Amino acid sequence: ETSNIQHDAVDKGNFRHFMLKEIFEQPSVVADTLEGRIVDNQVYIETLGDNAAKVFEQTEALQIIACGTSYNAALVAKYWVEHYLNIPCLVEIASEYRYRKTATIPNSLFITISQSGETADTLAALSKAKGEGYLASLTVCNSPASSMVRESDFTLLTRAGTEIGVASTKAFTAQLVSLLLLTISIGKAKGLDKETEHNIVKALEHLPSEIQKALDQAGDIDKLSEAFAEKHHTLFLGRGQQYPIAMEAALKLKEVSYIHAEAYAAGELKHGPLALIDKDMPTVVVAPNDNLLEKLKSNIEEVRSRGGSLFVFADKSAKIQGSDGITVFPVDSSYNVTAPIVYTIPLQLLSYYVAVIKGTDVDQPRNLAKSVTVE
Ligand code: G6P
Repeated sequence: ETSNIQHDAVDKGNFRHFMLKEIFEQPSVVADTLEGRIVDNQVYIETLGDNAAKVFEQTEALQIIACGTSYNAALVAKYWVEHYLNIPCLVEIASEYRYRKTATIPNSLFITISQSGETADTLAALSKAKGEGYLASLTVCNSPASSMVRESDFTLLTRAGTEIGVASTKAFTAQLVSLLLLTISIGKAKGLDKETEHNIVKALEHLPSEIQKALDQAGDIDKLSEAFAEKHHTLFLGRGQQYPIAMEAALKLKEVSYIHAEAYAAGELKHGPLALIDKDMPTVVVAPNDNLLEKLKSNIEEVRSRGGSLFVFADKSAKIQGSDGITVFPVDSSYNVTAPIVYTIPLQLLSYYVAVIKGTDVDQPRNLAKSVTVE
């Protein structure tokens, strides 16, 4: 399998930075990642083939290992896997997994996620896993010729094309799409019902246009970013499958704008971060219209009543009112399962525009490397 080279022209085109160009490539990156993998409303990943299906059939748990943005993608996958497949999905940072005594759940599949396929800690974790009794190893990777692909039993290529910006954007969405395809593939081998498969496929097919709609709001996000540029800290809140999206948003803001950012599961507010809330600490809330919305609304109120300023990314149907201290930013996402991917877009744009105001080196933030190949 070859990755689509149409994105590989290493040229900023009309964009000021690679990061912005790569954010705007996401509708086509998602379409490319899906290309040929949905046939007659069903998921079929040719490169995984019958051998993988045999392993998936026996799979009773997943262990996912990654670093950085790839780790945040793994955390979203955990929500999908446990929801749709009803099997445990453990997620751990590679640098922790590789050095501790770990215990393997019988009949589990070992999965690495990596944009580069060369991250030293993730590779070391993969090599450790070979002696730990897993059924097999699988990598979700963006680099076809990488060590991770060579060392793994199975490969699912994300087709994001070459990513130049050190802060990962399009590789992250391609990972999420791939992980959702993988969830269905494992599910099919384990008897996932057709209707669920069709519903997820439908959501995936609409994803490029939903991402495009989010990108069309870039001008509004640019304006919104002014409220953050002078701040020293930002808190991101999410719940459920949007909690890892809040984590990824905080990571992006740290990486490119050098503003200290933390993500919290909104339900943990009372257990510490509420003490930080004052007028100098903006809070960004990821609020889709799902079963946790009512709980999230009371978290919003907890912050507002303590004088904090809130920026709520909310579904139009969520009926969250803007008011004193609450700025609501509408996000259009019709499918709950793919909402984490859609909400990622405005949050990437937010970090980007804040960084531009601050004048940082957006594509090559200080002290960071694209690929961490040494410890
Ligand atoms: C570095 C990069 C991040 C990336 C992480 C993991 O920290 O700056 O953008 O998420 O490595 O890289 P990988 O290639 O394994 O996904």
